[in-house]
Amino acid sequence: ETNQQWGGRFSEPTDAFVARFTASVDFDRRLYRQDIQGSIAHAKMLTKVGVLSDKERDDIIRGLSEIRIEIERGEFEWSVALEDVHMNIEAALTKKIGITGKKLHTGRSRNDQVATDIRLYMRDEIDLILSEISRLQQGLLDLAEQEADTIMPGFTHLQTAQPVTFGHHLLAWFEMLSRDYERFADCRKRVNVMPLGAAALAGTTYPIDRHYTAELLQFDAPAGNSLDAVSDRDFAIEFCAASSLLLMHMTRMSEELVLWTSAQFNFINLPDRFCTGSSIMPQKKNPDVPELVRGKSGRVYGHLIALLTLMKSQPLAYNKDNQEDKEPLFDAVDTVKGCLRAFGDMVPAIESRKDQMREAARRGFSTATDLADYLVRKGVAFRDAHEIVGLSVAYGIKTSKDLSDMSLDELKQFSDQIDEDVFDVLTLEGSVAARNHIGGTAPDQVRAAVARGRDLLAAR
Ligand code: ARG
Repeated sequence: ETNQQWGGRFSEPTDAFVARFTASVDFDRRLYRQDIQGSIAHAKMLTKVGVLSDKERDDIIRGLSEIRIEIERGEFEWSVALEDVHMNIEAALTKKIGITGKKLHTGRSRNDQVATDIRLYMRDEIDLILSEISRLQQGLLDLAEQEADTIMPGFTHLQTAQPVTFGHHLLAWFEMLSRDYERFADCRKRVNVMPLGAAALAGTTYPIDRHYTAELLQFDAPAGNSLDAVSDRDFAIEFCAASSLLLMHMTRMSEELVLWTSAQFNFINLPDRFCTGSSIMPQKKNPDVPELVRGKSGRVYGHLIALLTLMKSQPLAYNKDNQEDKEPLFDAVDTVKGCLRAFGDMVPAIESRKDQMREAARRGFSTATDLADYLVRKGVAFRDAHEIVGLSVAYGIKTSKDLSDMSLDELKQFSDQIDEDVFDVLTLEGSVAARNHIGGTAPDQVRAAVARGRDLLAAR
């Protein structure tokens, strides 16, 4: 099978290996829907400006619609000799409707066609990703509300630092995801610009109406420069950057879930349906989902670097290098969607072990800062208070007592400023409730933040 699309200039057929090496149809057929969508809009525009007749337009639309159905039914025969999704569909159209099929490509090149297809595809995928982020955030809000009063240790350096509420911790994840949402939404603005009309690189001599095509395809605007429109893939790089940041955040969540499900922490339970067992160790229940998400970050970071490198130093305008944009991009899309789906299902099912969390917070002298602040309120300078509490903690370690387990007399050895009311601040509940300002860990603040979060999601 020789390639009919450019046969004219060539004196011998493409080498069989080169044909396979340069073909992209095995992966870019994923773009068939957007390719057909773009072609239909292009045909309508050509008719509007008098290049195609109404009948020609209708034949093209009918033919392409049939092809879409054939592809979706798995009846379409993809040919590597026809190189890519664009030429496969165009050749099938010509086979179906005859010479009119050959007119579709008037005023167009695969260069503006493929750039348009990818942008349409990415727009669709970004919209799905945005709604999946929202779903995960919704799950976090519900869980945070439920866990607004649950006490756990907060960590720095993974050492017990101060008590926090589990709801507050979950809302930290919510904040990360809000920024990820904004990054994808912002990326979408730069994706949603239409290359069609740029043709191969310089534009076209036909009296095209790019605003009309853009309107049909719901693009915000036609691209402002034909050379740029066919050549740059910065929007795909940007998508991978946003994806990398999202995945980075998800690895942090994953890491905590993995730690928390371990016997040593035992803070939460993940329902069995999100875990797997071991083929040798009968007792094992492994947190595979968060582990896999943590691992999958690597491929997305890799795709970001792949696309940056692909684009680097490319002279204007289109170069075949750009055909290599698709596999990294598609895999980034699949990975992000898969990770979001897994988390969106799993997060609402997290079961907290409140007693374990509370006990861990109690054990780690987590209210030491509260004692120091208490002394400051009694007139002690903060540095001196720090020293006094340090000595109390050392005593606690030696005698295996938490600060709140010590008697007033024991505490008074370190400062005579300590009175009976110290026990109000040494309790875990007192400690978290006292951090009662916007962004603080107090249960009331968690509930207020949940309410703000719900408003944010409702406004999307
Ligand atoms: N398959 C090509 C790609 O993905 C389509 C554009 C090809 N253009 C060209 N002049 N060879 O980039």
